[in-house]
Formats: sequence, C-alpha cells, structure tokens
Amino acid sequence: MKAVQIVELTGPRTALRIIDVPDPEPSHPMTPGEGVVVEVHAAGVSFPEVLQTRGEYQVKPDLPFTPGSEVGGVVRSAPASANVKAGDRVAAFCVLGGWAEVAVSPAVFTFPLPDELDFAQGAGLVLNYHTAYFSLVTRGRFEAGETVLVHGAAGGVGTATLQIAKGLGAKTIAVVSTDEKERVAREAGADEVVRSDGPWKDQAKEISGGGVDIVIDPVGGDRFTDSLRSLKEGGRVVVVGFTGGSIPEVRVNRLLLANTEVIGAGWGNYVLRKPKLNQQIAGEIERLIEQGFVRPVIGARFPLEQAADALELIEGRGATGEVVLDVQ
Ligand SMILES: NC(=O)c1ccc[n+]([C@@H]2O[C@H](COP(=O)([O-])OP(=O)(O)OC[C@H]3O[C@@H](n4cnc5c(N)ncnc54)[C@H](OP(=O)(O)O)[C@@H]3O)[C@@H](O)[C@H]2O)c1
Repeated sequence: MKAVQIVELTGPRTALRIIDVPDPEPSHPMTPGEGVVVEVHAAGVSFPEVLQTRGEYQVKPDLPFTPGSEVGGVVRSAPASANVKAGDRVAAFCVLGGWAEVAVSPAVFTFPLPDELDFAQGAGLVLNYHTAYFSLVTRGRFEAGETVLVHGAAGGVGTATLQIAKGLGAKTIAVVSTDEKERVAREAGADEVVRSDGPWKDQAKEISGGGVDIVIDPVGGDRFTDSLRSLKEGGRVVVVGFTGGSIPEVRVNRLLLANTEVIGAGWGNYVLRKPKLNQQIAGEIERLIEQGFVRPVIGARFPLEQAADALELIEGRGATGEVVLDVQ
C-alpha cells in the first residue's frame, strides 16, 4: 500500500517520503493483538504532525514512521470487541499510521460515521470533537447558558468547540487573527468575534457583562494571563494546547484573588480506560450531528502526495477547520 512517512526530523517538506509498504497487521500498539483495519478514504492533518516532522511532539516514534492520527474510511476487519464491522463507514482515531491507504485503529476509538458526514468530515471528527466535548463539559463543567470564549476559534479544535458549545446552549465568543478566520468562526457558531491582536480581554468582559464563564485555550502563550483576567468569579480556563509556541506559567495568587480555576484537559489518555465516558461522549456528539450542530469544517484538501503542503499551511497559521488528505 501507499503511505507517507516521516524519514528525518528536518521540518515539514524535507522530512517526508511517499513509499510502498506492506498492509498493516490487525493490531494496534494501544491494544496489542487487536485493532480495527480501516481502508482510508481521507486522513486528517493537525498541528501535532507539524511538530512530529521536527521531533518536537511528546510522542516520538522511531524513524521512519507513518504519521496521521485520524481517518475516515471503511472497515476491512474488526475484532469482536468493536462497535463496528467489516463494510461500515467509520471515523477513527488511530494515533499514528493514518497517512496511508490502510490504517489500524483501537476499537475504543473507532466510531460509526453517520450518513450526514462524508469521509473528509470523518477524518476531522474524533480528535477535534471528542476533545472539544471533553474540554468543555467533562473538564470545564459547562452548563447551558454560560458564556464560552474560544481561542484559535477557526482551527480544528476551535470550530469543534464552537459547534458543540452552541449545540449545548452556550453564548460564544471567538478569538481569531484574520478576517477569513472571523468568517469561519461565525459560520461555526460564534455569537461574537474578537481579534487576538486587539483588546479582546476588555471586549470579552463587556460582551459577557463582566466576565466569561469558561475559556477554552488550545493556543497558550502570551495571552494566558489575559484569559484569566477575562473570567468572572468561579470562571475556568481549560488548557487544551500550545499552538502559540510557549507554555504559559500561572501566578496562582490571581486564582485566589478572583476565585477562578485553571483546568488541564488531555483527552486521549483520560478516556482510554474509561469506556463508559468514551461512549457517553460519542453518544452526545452523535446527537449533536443528528440535530445539525456538528458539521466538521474542512478548510483545505490535498492529495496524499502533497502532505507537505498541508503541513506548511498549518505551520504558516493559514489553516481553518480540519485540513484533510484525500487518500482513495
Ligand atoms: N488536549 C488534548 O487532548 C488535545 C487534543 C487535540 C488537540 N490538542 C491540541 O490543541 C491545539 C490546537 O489544535 P488544532 O488542531 O485546533 O490546531 P489548528 O487547527 O492549527 O488551530 C490552532 C489555532 O491556533 C492559533 N494560533 C495562534 N498562534 C499560532 C501560531 N504561532 N501558529 C499556529 N497557530 C497559532 C491559530 O488561530 P489564530 O490565527 O486565529 O490565532 C490557529 O487557528 C494543538 O496544540 C493540539 O496539539 C490537544
């Protein structure tokens, strides 16, 4: 089968090779001896893969390896423990190996793909939407009627968070950097949009009538202190990622003085051994798909051979929604 591999850690373009490799065995490193084999139609491209091409991501497999953490495709074979069977359309989080014609995903992270969504949307469903729901509800303790501010709001996690928040009855404020990203954020459900290079903290306080309830932050970096300052009493900043490049530090006296919280949200490892929670989140997302709130935003599509272009788009901060590779 055809696959794109990372062969050296020299940054997006020179790190990749397209090669022929044998089809994978039905076994996934997370569930040794067992895995769902998926014929990949579309594969997602996300920020971690940019980091992987330089060896800067927390997961550092031996070279060469096939990246690609999520796919939309059709099941070739599935173990008895899976909720899917051969021939089913699925959305799957495979961690690695998705940039190939055939991938293997753990049964626990392989979900039926509803008819409302195509394969490209399937490739942008699991990581972004499960993370968004987990961050907002499981960790952020969101309740209907609360105001949610979303950083990086036109990105993969950002658009997913806006759609889920709207579906659950939130008032939403999006923080973005460009006009095009403002358009994408509004389409994804932002009630208000503010600019990351403007006085967004003061605008958010004004819009929300004194402070927001929850900040969902996949960006980190310099804006973190202002995220804390934008909260109302009892408000929570949920830490999701660091696309801004640096990991912020908190002066915890701010939390004491304002009665606020900083909460970490790391989706995959948390739900891996909690099948009930994992299924509950999947059920909630399915309901939001049925109701029309969840529709993964596909910002750009490239053929598998052009994976480097996809990575450069993300690295250059030009991506919106999910960036997808068309595989077959
Ligand atoms: N915690 C978890 O379980 C979990 C799960 C999935 C993903 N994540 C993490 O969440 C983060 C976001 O992922 P994503 O797929 O949503 O990424 P994405 O689609 O690339 O969006 C990230 C957004 O970050 C903003 N940004 C600010 N400074 C940036 C910079 N210097 N370079 C690039 N982007 C910058 C951009 O918005 P503006 O231009 O509008 O500022 C961009 O739209 C990543 O760090 C990822 O690893 C965490």
